[in-house]
Amino acid sequence: MQPKLETIEGLESEWTETDRRLMRRALALAAQGVGQVSPGPLVGCVIAQGSEIVGEGLYVYEQLKHAETYALEQAGTKAKGATAYVSLEPHAHHGRTPPCTDALIVAGVSCVIAPTQDPNPKVSGKGFEHLRAAGLAVSVGLLARDAEKLNEKYFHFMRTGRPFVHLKLATSLDGKIATRTGDSRWITGTESRARAHELRHEYDAILIGAGTALADDPLLTDRSGRKRRRPLVRVVLDEQLTIAPESKLAMTAKDAPVLIFAGSSPTSALSDELESRGVEVVRDRASGRDLGAVLDELWRRELQSVLIEGGANVAGTFLDAGLVNKISFFLAPVVIGGSEAPNAIGGQGAQRLVDALELQDVEVITRGRDIEVTGYPKRRAEG
Ligand SMILES: NC(=O)c1ccc[n+]([C@@H]2O[C@H](COP(=O)([O-])OP(=O)(O)OC[C@H]3O[C@@H](n4cnc5c(N)ncnc54)[C@H](OP(=O)(O)O)[C@@H]3O)[C@@H](O)[C@H]2O)c1
Repeated sequence: MQPKLETIEGLESEWTETDRRLMRRALALAAQGVGQVSPGPLVGCVIAQGSEIVGEGLYVYEQLKHAETYALEQAGTKAKGATAYVSLEPHAHHGRTPPCTDALIVAGVSCVIAPTQDPNPKVSGKGFEHLRAAGLAVSVGLLARDAEKLNEKYFHFMRTGRPFVHLKLATSLDGKIATRTGDSRWITGTESRARAHELRHEYDAILIGAGTALADDPLLTDRSGRKRRRPLVRVVLDEQLTIAPESKLAMTAKDAPVLIFAGSSPTSALSDELESRGVEVVRDRASGRDLGAVLDELWRRELQSVLIEGGANVAGTFLDAGLVNKISFFLAPVVIGGSEAPNAIGGQGAQRLVDALELQDVEVITRGRDIEVTGYPKRRAEG
């Protein structure tokens, strides 16, 4: 959705290079909160007198002050007559914190520049309205696309009531995710694997299928070494409840949550054992076959985003259902070969080439000897 562009009365309709630089700084500050804000948004704020920064702040969930408050505290009396560059619309309601719009008004800020409205219905448009009613100049739209991308998980979560879904796979040059004997460690090199942990750090949940749990016995933890607010929730779609109580997932379930979607499989000695290890077996709420219901259940738990790490069947069914919002492939310059070696994506796939899923906003990044290709599925309606 393109944000509405507005201009400030009395000012030029185009933002200056200084405005862009200071908004980029606000976005960079916001980005420092990755892993520490969900289910809220990433927010950064810069207070400036002309081109000089007099205060800066960013939001992290555990601290009961918003980015604007930190920046205003730092600016002190220099906030009077200043411009605030905020990476998201300031809120005007009483939530966990008092309204940030009040703080900006009381401090005497004269102008607020923001990229976009907050999609949260409690905030949306009301923050800007409050500031304008108090006589502040408000300009919306600067670096809007960058700001939406930065907060893509939050925007999706708020607009759709479902977690943002990112599919990530590592493949050989010929599109294989394992050899014919199931050997898949490691197709990609150390740089790609380090990047994979950074990606895990950005997400609230990580999801795999029963096949991958069985073949790889993965741990699925965030080993980025960076601080996170909530542990990464590890999710397995396992209709037949086949996961072993001795698996790494089950053995570590007390340290980091493990959710198994086990459809209508009956309670058994195995499920009892898994549960005694701390695994949560989800039966009634959602079957792993009903992916919409799985996502609804994750949303109900306030999980804003989910990273799917395979395998081929789970990746294919999510893509066939049109439920993937972002895709990353890490391509290694190796050829595995063999008609029995699994291809990256199972499911139905496209019938005709024109039906093949096309990506947009594609980024291609070299990771050591590998290449990362990341993009967003083009929805059919967008042509
Ligand atoms: N290179 C990589 O990035 C990468 C990543 C992950 C895995 N792998 C490799 O991929 C292989 C495993 O792939 P896979 O396709 O066999 O297994 P998978 O996709 O991990 O799991 C498939 C199984 O999950 C269960 N399932 C439950 N709900 C499902 C749903 N909605 N859609 C699809 N499956 C659902 C099904 O088992 P039930 O019918 O029994 O419930 C199905 O057989 C392994 O060799 C692994 O090493 C590679």
